[in-house]
Amino acid sequence: LHVVHIAAEMVPVAKVGGLGDVVTGLAKAHQQSGILCEVVLPKYDICDYAAVSDLRMLRVIDVAYDGRKVPTRVWSAVVEGLPVYLLEPENGFFWRRRFYGAADDLERFMFFSRAALEWLTVSGKQPDIIHLHDWSSAAVAPLLAEEYRGRGLSRPRCVFTIHNIVGLDPQRMAQPWHMLDDSRPGFTPGQHDCSLLRGAVVFSDRTTTVSPSYAREVFTPDYGMGAQAILSQHHYKFSGVLNGIDHESWCPEHDPLLPARFSAASPSGKETCKRRLLEELGLPYTEPDWVLQQQRHGWGQQHHHHHQQQQHEGNGNGSGGQLQLPKVQTGRPLLVVVSRLTVQKGLPLILHGIKTAIARGAQVIVLGTASEPEVQRQWEDMARDYWRGGDARLVLRYDEGLAHRIYAGADMILIPSFFEPCGLTQLIALRYGTIPIVNHTGGLADTVRDVADNHVPEHERNGFVFSGREEHRVEAAVHRALDAYYTGHDWWRRELVPRAMQQDWSWSRSAQSYLDLYRSCLG
Ligand code: ADP
Ligand code: GLC
Repeated sequence: LHVVHIAAEMVPVAKVGGLGDVVTGLAKAHQQSGILCEVVLPKYDICDYAAVSDLRMLRVIDVAYDGRKVPTRVWSAVVEGLPVYLLEPENGFFWRRRFYGAADDLERFMFFSRAALEWLTVSGKQPDIIHLHDWSSAAVAPLLAEEYRGRGLSRPRCVFTIHNIVGLDPQRMAQPWHMLDDSRPGFTPGQHDCSLLRGAVVFSDRTTTVSPSYAREVFTPDYGMGAQAILSQHHYKFSGVLNGIDHESWCPEHDPLLPARFSAASPSGKETCKRRLLEELGLPYTEPDWVLQQQRHGWGQQHHHHHQQQQHEGNGNGSGGQLQLPKVQTGRPLLVVVSRLTVQKGLPLILHGIKTAIARGAQVIVLGTASEPEVQRQWEDMARDYWRGGDARLVLRYDEGLAHRIYAGADMILIPSFFEPCGLTQLIALRYGTIPIVNHTGGLADTVRDVADNHVPEHERNGFVFSGREEHRVEAAVHRALDAYYTGHDWWRRELVPRAMQQDWSWSRSAQSYLDLYRSCLG
């Protein structure tokens, strides 16, 4: 089997959000099972070239664009062990110091789509599957059907994956409804012709989205945002395949970006990560009792003693919802957010959640960026306020290393998204033993089960789930998480955290689902 992904992002060379993680993670998983997987990517000036090896200019191809031929260099390279082709048009479309966010994004990626097909044609490649991702390579599907099949690309079947449906219906774009902002840097609502996605759905052999729940939600107007009709007409070829995470890049046992390593079997490094993370950001660290005791008695022998003591003190503490700061010295819980700061991610609920947590004695770290200048400014103002005390830090930049250290050092991560096609941050957090507090929507609903959910087996319960967009809902969930942390700390540390870390959200299962899907459209 030969698969070519045509995509605008690919970690670690070009990443804005989860799409970049998915392209690399899925292709790596398929490559490991013996499939030839190649990726075609724009050659941005801001690619992380340190992560690119064997970069070589192969040839120059002419790409028809706007009545002219644009000479385009084709580079070959290896990224994460995957063969990659980087396309560099001489007109400078990808020399913009940004991935997205130019006024002519639509033209840039229409061009990219055409250039990718041109390259496949002139190189004589005949992949079995061309896999497209979101609006930025959506144009490939109609172009392939209407033009390039006739020019010799007769063999490939076409799979189109929707990572986020936002951008489909220009009419809905005009309404003030808050789900309209995709907010990749520069993805201005209304700019992108809905016919792009329509074309991809109509002309692809299979259309997928990134979780089963989102695949159901998009048939409703609130989530489908105008795409429901097109998807309904093509529902027979539409399905949801849950994203995975790349267990090599996200692995607390071997992660080179962490100050200490840990695993479910050997968890003590997580506390070191927490201490070092707080120190890195100038926040005070409170050592929990159990660390002091371990230092006094060494590992192992103190477990029983500690358990009894915890229960004893815990009993004296049972004040239900009105819980004050705990008698048991658990250390301060650390609640984090790692997110693009956009409407989709439930900004008012993020804010309310972190305030709730701080009021209960937790510390908070937010790592995020906003693509809209006003939102970025607003958060920068807040960051200045919060920076003063010992309670919280808001870090408003993109920082891969810090993201790893945050996942590792945190106790809980807040993801109150209004909608979430899949979401990767909850999966990464789980792998690092950080417990998610999530809104019950899309991929979050498919991956996070409430610790009190009696309908699922205990080993599947891995977080705190609320449902709705009102502040009191996120507030209640944060309270429940903190109650559990303070009063059931032993359970949290010895059961919940290892359970979360042992769950398997790797690509293995979903890579197989995509494989089945590829095979089904090859007939
Ligand atoms: P989305 O694609 O909608 O942004 P996902 O949860 O699918 O959401 O993926 C987000 C990805 O981007 C994760 O890998 C997360 O760690 C990363 N990320 C988000 N914001 C930042 C940031 N400010 N710095 C570093 N990584 C970030
Ligand atoms: C989109 C979605 C996110 C998903 C990611 C990768 O950016 O917002 O939920 O995880 O794509 O598929």
